[in-house]
Amino acid sequence: MKKNTLKKFASVAVISGMFAMLAGCNSSLLNETEVEGAQRPIIVQGPMPIEAENFAKKLDKVKVERSGNFVFYKGKLNNYPVIVAKTGKGMENAAAATAVAIEKYKPIAIINQGTSGGHNPELNVFDIVLGKTTTNIGSLKTTHLEAGQGIDPTSWIPMDLMASEGSGSDDSANQVRHYEGDKDLLAAANAVKDTYTKGKVVEGTIGSADFWNSEVDRIQWIHEKYGTDVEEMEGASVAQIADAYDVAFLGVRILSNNITNGGTYNAGTAAANQDYVYEVVKEYISMIKSK
Ligand code: 5AD
Repeated sequence: MKKNTLKKFASVAVISGMFAMLAGCNSSLLNETEVEGAQRPIIVQGPMPIEAENFAKKLDKVKVERSGNFVFYKGKLNNYPVIVAKTGKGMENAAAATAVAIEKYKPIAIINQGTSGGHNPELNVFDIVLGKTTTNIGSLKTTHLEAGQGIDPTSWIPMDLMASEGSGSDDSANQVRHYEGDKDLLAAANAVKDTYTKGKVVEGTIGSADFWNSEVDRIQWIHEKYGTDVEEMEGASVAQIADAYDVAFLGVRILSNNITNGGTYNAGTAAANQDYVYEVVKEYISMIKSK
């Protein structure tokens, strides 16, 4: 499903160069501004202040821009444009912040990162999940029950809102949609995973919904049905919008809690994840520069 954005970026640069030449420009006039103009920023999103501000402080030459509730810290990292976005919590904030950022800044890639709750008992607080896939775990259709027949959550059916533009009554909508993490972003993340020493870094499935689940049986049901390793409240909505605009996407989520194995909440995980994602972004920038 995902596209090779690095290649696309390279072709944009080549095409701009061709236009410059066709316009009769001296190649030395193919100046910094034009190269800068082709340097589409990397966006690093964090929902809460503790999940964004740490990274924003690491950028050079930061300018702050606001749109609605969203705060964009526009800066540079190793001389490449990086924008940290504080999106606010939840699917709606994350989706809107993503659409606004794509329209305003034309990013080459979006990393949605922050804390999460474990669904996989083998993962501990401070472990990090790279979203090989990200999926919406709150998009569901119920079965038909009459008045007085109660509710039956384990019979609910995943609903793929992007399956068609119709009402969703056809069977094609009765499935889980997985958004794949961009392969170049995943490669960058894997290349630096040894720099992270507070836990392990694994590829897995990130599930998102405006929901904080603390019923262990329900978590187990989602874990089996969707293959989730962690849950959070933003990634899938960002992935859906990034996919609509054909922008590379990766979710990177640290476990701040894991009720399935007694892992109690630790707010310090938010900063640890940003430190790791900082290494990922540096690696991705060096990949872009060497293309
Ligand atoms: N369930 C849902 N969201 C969680 N978050 C951290 N842990 C969990 C959890 N167990 C994240 C969400 C949201 C904020 C409440 O923290 O992504 O931004």
